[in-house]
Amino acid sequence: MNTTLYDLGITAGDVFLEISYLVAAILFVIGLKLMSHPESSRKGNIWAGGGMILAMITTLFLHRDASGNHIAMLNVIVIVIAIIVGGVVGTIVARKVKMTAMPQLVSLFNATGGAASALVALMEYSNPENTSALVTLLGLIIGTIAFSGSMIAYGKLDGKVGDIFADWIKYFNIITLIIIAALTYYMIGFSHTMEMQTTLSYVLLGLALIYGIMFVMPIGGADMPVVISLLNSLTGIAAALAGFIYGNQAMILGGIFVGSAGSILTLLMCKAMNRSLVSVIVGSFGGGGTAISSEQGNIKEISLSDASVLLSYSQSVVIVPGYGLAVAQAQHICNELVILLENKGVEVKFAIHPVAGRMPGHMNVLLAEADVPYTKLAEMDDINPSLPNTDVVIIIGANDVVNPAANDDPASPIYGMPIINAYEAKNIIVMKRGMGKGYAGIENALFFNEKTRMLFGNAKDTLQTLVAEIKKL
Ligand code: TAP
Repeated sequence: MNTTLYDLGITAGDVFLEISYLVAAILFVIGLKLMSHPESSRKGNIWAGGGMILAMITTLFLHRDASGNHIAMLNVIVIVIAIIVGGVVGTIVARKVKMTAMPQLVSLFNATGGAASALVALMEYSNPENTSALVTLLGLIIGTIAFSGSMIAYGKLDGKVGDIFADWIKYFNIITLIIIAALTYYMIGFSHTMEMQTTLSYVLLGLALIYGIMFVMPIGGADMPVVISLLNSLTGIAAALAGFIYGNQAMILGGIFVGSAGSILTLLMCKAMNRSLVSVIVGSFGGGGTAISSEQGNIKEISLSDASVLLSYSQSVVIVPGYGLAVAQAQHICNELVILLENKGVEVKFAIHPVAGRMPGHMNVLLAEADVPYTKLAEMDDINPSLPNTDVVIIIGANDVVNPAANDDPASPIYGMPIINAYEAKNIIVMKRGMGKGYAGIENALFFNEKTRMLFGNAKDTLQTLVAEIKKL
């Protein structure tokens, strides 16, 4: 006699739920693929978001627990209310946030993802029906670290939290990690009363909270990009672990996608910063060095009319955008300058440093917003060899990513970080408001280089006047 799905207790709803998860996974993959290019990234968000909405709706109405019961209607109502409240708050915040505060928002969203996974794990650890203690505890630890670490990262990006550099932090972090591992083993390897189990899970939560804080605290200067992408990947892993607790494929897949994308990004950021991942995990890198003062000389300024002549009669110009371009919101006028120069026969390219700005891909997103063709963007490794033959490099609101101390000053906290070798160009024009430092808080000898001329002012205003001057020629 043939056994049917019905005999196995599997209903049409169960099958539909599984199919919906498969469709959601396909939508996530399509979304990720589209997100890999700035021009299609908006669509990517919509596709992946569509997958998530599908998975949420089918889970709410079709999921059944081990006893075969659907989610109680009262719980469905509570969940829907929570989704609406979260959705409205998220939409308002995302719409209101300034482009320059986007990295902080991303860190906050990251923190909420970690917190959600940690809370799921905390609740489920005390659930007698839960059979996956190790996975649950890992979810609790990783989600909590992602939460507290991301909150500190948010504070640092927003200038609310300073760096604490001390050698003892490295040892403190290693010891905390060992205690966390030992406590996890104790919680899994030995039987405890329910009360004890709950108490221990809160102790673990506290330790993970402290580790998250202390692991991000000493990371300063130019090294934040690595930690931001690492925290992002931890949030994904925590979500995947929460998915394992419930045996929910959509959550597992969504978490794995975020976790693996974040891990790839972390490795890319490590490469961009020339740092090792191990040193990130024990929180032993970054900062430590004091803000050194480079050998200083005289600053030379250039007038807008001289700059317009120099640019108009050049053959090749490379623009190095940085965080200041985002602050000034000067991307549109910058594109206008590019078009104007190209119409005069000048070859113009953008040199994109992987950590320019305050979030991965910041410059790519900014320039895509101004419709700068993607073909004009050159990565650091591709553009560097051509810089000695470049007539003019214009640095717009960038600082750390062109700081030669990274190449030649072993005492500098950014020593070893690959940079855009702007100092090799024949002429260098730097647009910034004054002599303000970059994110790493250190001097930049490039501004005192004899080939460098400064164009002081807010980048948008300066570019507007420069474009007007070039049009007059
Ligand atoms: P920064 O080194 O931060 O320098 C930005 C410069 O822009 C400042 O020196 C500032 O000088 C100038 N500026 C600010 N507002 C301006 C405006 N309205 N008009 C003109 N100039 C303006 O930027 P960067 O070169 O892009 O380097 C990025 C740094 O951030 C790196 O250290 C990186 O490690 C770090 N970071 C990156 C990320 C990611 S993932 N990309 C995340 C966290 C941290 P004035 O005040 O004199 O104008």
